Amino acid sequence: MAAISLQGISKAFGEHAPVLRDVNLEIAHDEFCVFLGPSGCGKSTLLRIIAGLEDPSAGEISIGGRVVNTVPPAKRGVAMVFQSYALFPHMTVAENMSFGLKLAKLPAPEVERKVQEAAKILELGPLLNRKPAALSGGQRQRVAIGRAIVREPGVFLFDEPLSNLDATLRGQTRVEIARIHRRFSEASTVYVTHDQVEAMTLADKIVLLNVSRDASASASGSIAQVGTPMDLYLRPNSRFVAGFIGSPQMNFLPATVSKIEGAHTTVTLSASREDVRIERAGAGLTPGQAVMLGVRPEHIALLASGEAERNGPQYAGSTLTRTVSLVERLGEQSYLHCSEADGATLLVKLQGNTLLRSGEAVHLAPDPASCHLFTEEGHAV
Ligand SMILES: Nc1ncnc2c1ncn2[C@@H]1O[C@H](COP(=O)(O)OP(=O)(O)O)[C@@H](O)[C@H]1O
Ligand SMILES: [Mg+2]
Repeated sequence: MAAISLQGISKAFGEHAPVLRDVNLEIAHDEFCVFLGPSGCGKSTLLRIIAGLEDPSAGEISIGGRVVNTVPPAKRGVAMVFQSYALFPHMTVAENMSFGLKLAKLPAPEVERKVQEAAKILELGPLLNRKPAALSGGQRQRVAIGRAIVREPGVFLFDEPLSNLDATLRGQTRVEIARIHRRFSEASTVYVTHDQVEAMTLADKIVLLNVSRDASASASGSIAQVGTPMDLYLRPNSRFVAGFIGSPQMNFLPATVSKIEGAHTTVTLSASREDVRIERAGAGLTPGQAVMLGVRPEHIALLASGEAERNGPQYAGSTLTRTVSLVERLGEQSYLHCSEADGATLLVKLQGNTLLRSGEAVHLAPDPASCHLFTEEGHAV
């Protein structure tokens, strides 16, 4: 059982501006936690601080209830898997996996048992006598994971372990990592990625980091939002989170507040002057205020011709009239690219195929319950 607790973690390299600023985080003993964020926001640095490969400039790290700031990496009960597999080229798969255990002077039969067990979990049995050069990228990454498993750590740390794999192997290895986490139900996992799909599919908890700039314009990574994947998808606390989670990205339309009534707010789109009435209380907003309307491509319905007129003003939300500029057909889904008056694109995700072609006019209805509003500063309303 190894819960992780980070209290007030900051990190600066030498005289440079801090890379991380005041990170506070609790990871439960059986949790799969994903550090997500754009490149350079400090994800790897934070992971390396947990591993003990990097000292924080300030703050406290606890693993399993024990403060480990001064405990060396090998004694923290963590095992780390990197993007580059870092296998010993002259050793076989079995030797690579057992190396750490032999170094720790474990009895030979026990080493053998653990290697066999890990090989079985990862389906590496037939490859145990091969050298890394004779393995595919996916197999090498499985050996690297095997080397972590044999140590039976309390904490698994992964730093972008799938980045070097092709799309098919990435999918397979992702499932394998999820399986390993469930099998070692007493171990917590911290997994770093910049890929929101990996984060959404693997995480119990996503920690979304951002590079923020303070008044003196120095950049440092801090936590933008922590929550389950669906928390971040449904209730992003900022425009940054809303834009980072979800693919294709949420549409953002500049607007001004025109009416606030109870649980509903009406905004007027700046480019088209159309009104959009959404189910969101406009607490803190004032009429005339500039805002950003956010709506995901999957939350915009295509109305059948005539339906918009029939619904007329009774329609709970609002109808947008647009011209299709491009249709992307993916088979199970189609993306409509529609032109906004200001030159921006409104993207609509439709299920299945569509007969629509570019140049055609469409009536679109954003789901009033799934629209978001953000202030000019980027905070969710
Ligand atoms: N050893 C180091 N010395 C100086 N700067 C570093 C060092 N390691 C990382 N950085 C800087 O810290 C920032 C965060 O890096 P990193 O944690 O690797 O980001 P991420 O993993 O999110 O892409 C980057 O700007 C990077 O250049
Ligand atoms: Mg990194």
